[in-house]
Amino acid sequence: MIELQNLTKTFGSLRAVDNLSLSVPKGQTVGFLGPNGAGKTTTIRIMTNSISATSGSVLLNGIDVRANPKQALGSVGIVVETPEFYSYLTSLEVLAYLGSLKGLQPNEIKRRSQEVLHLVKMDEWKDTRVGGFSKGMKQRLAIAQAMLHEPEILILDEPTTGLDPRGMVEVREVIRRLKREGYTIFMSSHLLPEVQEVCDSAALVNHGKLLAYDSIDNLGKMVKNTRIEVMTFSDIPPSILDRIKELPQVRSVDLVNARSVIVTIEDSPSARADLLGSIQNAGTPVTGFQPIDLPLETIYMDLVKESR
Ligand SMILES: Nc1ncnc2c1ncn2[C@@H]1O[C@H](COP(=O)(O)OP(=O)(O)O)[C@@H](O)[C@H]1O
Ligand SMILES: [Mg+2]
Repeated sequence: MIELQNLTKTFGSLRAVDNLSLSVPKGQTVGFLGPNGAGKTTTIRIMTNSISATSGSVLLNGIDVRANPKQALGSVGIVVETPEFYSYLTSLEVLAYLGSLKGLQPNEIKRRSQEVLHLVKMDEWKDTRVGGFSKGMKQRLAIAQAMLHEPEILILDEPTTGLDPRGMVEVREVIRRLKREGYTIFMSSHLLPEVQEVCDSAALVNHGKLLAYDSIDNLGKMVKNTRIEVMTFSDIPPSILDRIKELPQVRSVDLVNARSVIVTIEDSPSARADLLGSIQNAGTPVTGFQPIDLPLETIYMDLVKESR
């Protein structure tokens, strides 16, 4: 449904998007994940034809965005920022106004407005003026208007950034609902937990480059190292620290305090068993032994660090 082919965008000497290729199958929800400045917004602006690529192309539903923007974007709903709506209009009036700008017929707007307000859980507020809405409600209305013309693809740029925690939860719930309804969704985010919670797969970017693109499950399996916090009953003697450092699977050892140490270790059950065994054999009772990273967090941090 979405195809980015060798996309590159330069601003002077800066490569904001660097030979980026990826394809999103129908019905998938992909998180376009990267830190601030990674090139997410630039990529989305190219995808939605608000700027042109330096080279490469974007196909939406098989249609080239640059060559046939109207046709390509006809099947796409776009939310790039939370718009300021006229505060004296109600939700339904906002949709009627924006629908007419899109060239939709009045009866079609009427029918679709009810549907899209339901999809974004705003039925209750359809006759309420938007002036009093929270940012989260305005964002849901923005998603509703993006779906008026019955697109199959939804492109969202950091849909929860700037919202309060409740607004974030509500917008994520809406995106999950749209996912269940079968929409193909491409959403950028700098928040790993958000992508993990909402998306089927993640495309990791930094410095405009695609670092990894796979299902959330598979990305978690790429983890090579994990951090384990070990807590002990009595102070950890230096001799034990030396012994831990000598274990072949151990990458680094960082003392948190006299009774707590963080060990970065190869991610395998045998490595964990060796670590635990060597501390206990030395006679120091262990009171806590637990991994402190979520697998995806580790791979994300590793890849972002490596790409510096
Ligand atoms: N119009 C522009 N002119 C010059 N540099 C830009 C422009 N837009 C974005 N950039 C730069 O491109 C890089 C990527 O920006 P952006 O796509 O906004 O990242 P993200 O959305 O991932 O935070 C940043 O270094 C940013 O400063
Ligand atoms: Mg951005």
